[in-house]
Amino acid sequence: MEFLRRLTEPAAAKAARERTRALVEAAMATAALVASADGPAGLAQRLLLDQILDSVESLRGNDPHVAVEIFNGFARAISESAEVGRARASTAISEFAGAPDTPRLLLHIANAMATAQGGTSANATAEIARVSKALGLPEEETPILEPDAEAGPCTVIVLGNEKGGTGKSTTALHLAVCLMARGHKVGTIDLDGHQGTLSRYIANRVKLVERGGQALPVPQHRRIVPSNLRDRVAAHADERAELQSAFKLLRGCRFVLVDTPGSHTHLSRLGLEFADTLITPLNDSFLDIDVLARIDHGRREIVEPSAYGRMVLDENDRRRAAGGEALDWIVMRNRLAHIDARNTREMDRLLRQLGDRMGFRLRPGLSERVVFRELFYKGLTLFDPPAGGDDTGTGAARALAGHCRARREVEDLTAALGQDSVEAGQAPV
Ligand SMILES: Nc1ncnc2c1ncn2[C@@H]1O[C@H](COP(=O)(O)OP(=O)(O)OP(=O)(O)O)[C@@H](O)[C@H]1O
Ligand SMILES: [Mg+2]
Repeated sequence: MEFLRRLTEPAAAKAARERTRALVEAAMATAALVASADGPAGLAQRLLLDQILDSVESLRGNDPHVAVEIFNGFARAISESAEVGRARASTAISEFAGAPDTPRLLLHIANAMATAQGGTSANATAEIARVSKALGLPEEETPILEPDAEAGPCTVIVLGNEKGGTGKSTTALHLAVCLMARGHKVGTIDLDGHQGTLSRYIANRVKLVERGGQALPVPQHRRIVPSNLRDRVAAHADERAELQSAFKLLRGCRFVLVDTPGSHTHLSRLGLEFADTLITPLNDSFLDIDVLARIDHGRREIVEPSAYGRMVLDENDRRRAAGGEALDWIVMRNRLAHIDARNTREMDRLLRQLGDRMGFRLRPGLSERVVFRELFYKGLTLFDPPAGGDDTGTGAARALAGHCRARREVEDLTAALGQDSVEAGQAPV
């Protein structure tokens, strides 16, 4: 008997594994069908997908990356040929026709996907009906949930590169305050929570407000630290869930600025995955270009993309393969010194060449100004009233003029985001 048990046990485990794989396929097919109903899946649907993978008991034990790959596969097939792709998805779903609980779960996933962007479109309703049909359910058993009226459009702007000290955190808070000054509701996420520069910057600002010094706008902020789970897959899933719940808490925000670590970590890669716009600040020196590409410094020529540049290119390939668009990538030169005109021109030439090859837009960023360090400790930005404004001497006037120029640089960067809605916020209160 023992030999029989040993024979049947692996077979039973294999059958269970296959059943789980089939369930993941059916769930991802359902999600992809509805998410692709009106074109390629958007950020809201991708966020929801993470939430589903994290919260649905029968899916939770699986590697979320594998599940997302399966979702991407179905979405890609649908974007290549709607008829063939949808038929493939229906076949995966029909595996569970007549099963006890799974059809209900799949219909809930379909409904949640349909309402992820704030309303159920006619196309999404048709896809829910397709899921229902594949499951062999009568039409009247298709539950349509109420649309979620609260969710609005949200643009995620990620500050990222893999070099320390290039101005990611400084720029993140300046952009956040600039957008708030235009009346937008803004959230910030510190994915570099271990170092916590942006979190400390905002904490300094909160202290200033609490001391009653000034009524300053403060973004809704979340800090995320690396997971302390030992298993790599579990740690990655944990970090993904943390980020996903941060976005959920910031759901009403029109813009979310995400600061990332200046090194290669899972959290910096994750930030990229959720970005609509990526801003990469570079210090204004030739050596700093190597964060994007390897350069032959003797001949001043581009050799090949470096690790960070490759990661962004891979992310864009993944998006295009899933039928989506590449992220809007802006590279900005920070700490501009204007002292070495030849060097500046050379760097400009090389970066423009690199931009054409790698798909980024080049923008001048912020000039070198010692005031940034002081602003950090005070929790202030260039958009807050400068201290000592009642002094009318020439020194103060010159300082004020410099302050206005610096402010304009951040405003120019904000304008480069190219969002129609950047200008469309309500007047600040
Ligand atoms: N335009 C600028 N002029 C002068 N100093 C600047 C400028 N931009 C940033 N700094 C200063 O450079 C230092 C690093 O900036 P910041 O912390 O924003 O960089 P970071 O890219 O977020 O760094 P890390 O990778 O370590 O997180 C800070 O002391 C900041 O005040
Ligand atoms: Mg930082």
